[in-house]
Order: sequence, then structure tokens, then C-alpha cells
Amino acid sequence: MIVLGIETSCDETSVALLDDDGRVFSNVVSSQMAAHALYGGVVPEVAARAHLENLPSALEDALARADAKLEDVGLVAATAGPGLIGALLVGLSAGKALAFARGIPFVGVNHLEGHLFSAFLRPGGEPPLPITYPFHGLVVSGGHAELVRVEEDRIVPLARTRDDAPGEAFDKIARRAGLGYPGGPVVDRVAARGRGDRVPFPVGRVEGSRDFSFSGLKTAMLRELQRRSIDGSPLDADVLDPELVDLLASFQRAIVSALVSRVDDVHGEEGIRALALSGGVAANSELRATLSAWGERHAVPVYLPDRAFTTDNAAMTAWAGLLRHRREGSRPLEEAQARSRWPLGT
Ligand code: KG4
Ligand code: ZN
Repeated sequence: MIVLGIETSCDETSVALLDDDGRVFSNVVSSQMAAHALYGGVVPEVAARAHLENLPSALEDALARADAKLEDVGLVAATAGPGLIGALLVGLSAGKALAFARGIPFVGVNHLEGHLFSAFLRPGGEPPLPITYPFHGLVVSGGHAELVRVEEDRIVPLARTRDDAPGEAFDKIARRAGLGYPGGPVVDRVAARGRGDRVPFPVGRVEGSRDFSFSGLKTAMLRELQRRSIDGSPLDADVLDPELVDLLASFQRAIVSALVSRVDDVHGEEGIRALALSGGVAANSELRATLSAWGERHAVPVYLPDRAFTTDNAAMTAWAGLLRHRREGSRPLEEAQARSRWPLGT
């Protein structure tokens, strides 16, 4: 049986085909980055229209690369939320229509749940790594920072961001520094040649809570940029002032420290048996290295997603949909509705 995954929650149109063990046969991601780069962020109307234009060819490509036909598909999974409603509706409606026309089951997938399980997927048609429950998951993306405990039949939220998501902070800072969109990859690249201990930044803690907060850090960083008269005029990331390089490295260090220290707190409180990192920010080199080192120090296995599965992709949607279908079986089509907000564990 083949599982078809469709992801259109934000600015990537993606279609993937997996077998029912979770081997990824194809994972086509058609990025709209260029369309949004012009505006320095994602424009919902532009995204929805681009999904409509890109989805048919992404589906054709995914089938061709997997050497499969639509008739081979036995389960359809599409992202139902959280995300931009207009964007979600494109993939969700297409997925439901395909399932309805062929009389096969359909699963509406929570995008964050997709990220959460992506750390276990393997590239190159390999079967996924076995999942042992309970494990803890850290989902960090352009819209979210969530630390959860995942049990066999439920997801328990432990911490989330009160304000900005880490990816959003990377994007806003990079835009103000004149380094373009998206900000995470370019800051990651620049930070690798800088010193992260040069500029002390506040590591936001929310009083009496485990939640994350990145807006104070973002504001402090914006002030540092302003002090250096950096106003968003385009800069070449390869030839930056060394002082700015250190500043960006220190900003990245502050984000990584906030995330890892929260993981460490939770480990102290309830013991983490295994940790799965995911989301677009899971591509960050320093976060990957720091969490791996933390895992080694505490003898906790840390699962890092393959980079192909960090930013939005439909392989993770198909995989999370397959896992949910295994647990819960088929649900009525009309139950899956597009949702702009959909917290994990609900
Ligand atoms: O998961 P994703 O594709 O979309 C959301 O669901 O939000 O995440 C996109 C985010 C962007 O904010 C981007 O700047 C960030 O992931 N990102 C990174 C890196 N690559 C992508 N952040 C830090 N370091 C990276 N290497
Ligand atoms: Zn995402």
C-alpha cells in the first residue's frame, strides 16, 4: 500500500509517496521562496495562489519519481492545520477529493505532529528508525517552539513560546541585517565563522513557567543592529564586518542556549528517555551539535532529522498520517477541517 502525503500549510507545496512501513519513495518540495522574498516574508494570498499552480505538477513529479500510479495509493494524508487557511485549503481539498473519488481512507494531519515524527524518517528509501515511547520532542520552526512528551496514545505539551518562534526571530533579524529571507540558513552560515560568546544576550525566561520567550532577545538584537547603523540595506553575507559576524553568532548562541537549557530542565524534572528534534530550525548546525553533545553527556539518544525533512515537506505529513491511521483507523472525511490554530495534543 502506498501513502500519499500533501503539505500546503505555508510557503512550500509538497507531495510525497511512502510505503506503509514509512520508506520515502519520493518527496517533492516546490518552494515559493522567490515569490515571498520580495516582501521579506510569506504573503498568504500569494501562497494560496502558488499552491494552486504548483500542486498538480508536484503530484505528477512525486508519482513519476516513485514510479507509481495514483491507483497504487491506499491512504491519503494532507495537512489540515495549523497554518494559513487559504494555503491549507488547497492541499486539504485536493487530498479529500482524491480519497473520495477513489474510495480510500483520508487523514487530516497536524503540521506540528508531522514535524514531531520527522526525526525518525530516513532518506534514500530506507525504513524509518524504530520509535520507542515515551520520547520527548522539540519542534522549532518559523511559527512554533514546542517541547512535548510523546506517549503511545497522547502528546503532552510541556513548553511553548509565548511570543516569537525561533525561526521567526532568525528571519526578522536577518531581514533587518540586510541578509534576505529566510534568515535561518544565512545566519547559520555566517555564525559558523564567528564567536558566539562575544555579545551577552538575555536568555528569556518566563517567570514561573517553562515557556520560551524570544521577543526580548530579538529586541536586544535589533537594538545592537541599530547601534551599528545597520538599517536593512542589502549586505553580502560572505564579506561582513567581523564584529557583525560575532554579533550574529552570539544571537544564534542565545537561541540555542534557551532551547537546550529548557530541555535540560525537563530532563531534570521528569527524565528524558530519548529526544527528537524537528522543524525548520532543526537544520541549524549549532543547535544540532549542541543538542547531540547534551545527549552524549546525559546518555540520552538524540534523534536529528535528515536535513531534507527539517523544513516543510510532505514526507513528514504522510508519515504522521500513517502513524495516526495505524492508531485510530479511518475517520469520516468531513471531520478534517482546515484550522489556523491547532495546538499539539488536542
Ligand atoms: O518548519 P518550517 O519550514 O516552516 C514552519 O513550519 O514554520 O521552518 C521554517 C523556518 C524559517 O524561519 C527558517 O529561517 C528556519 O526555519 N530555518 C533555520 C535554518 N534553516 C531554516 N533556522 C536556523 N538555522 C537554519 N539552518
Ligand atoms: Zn513547519
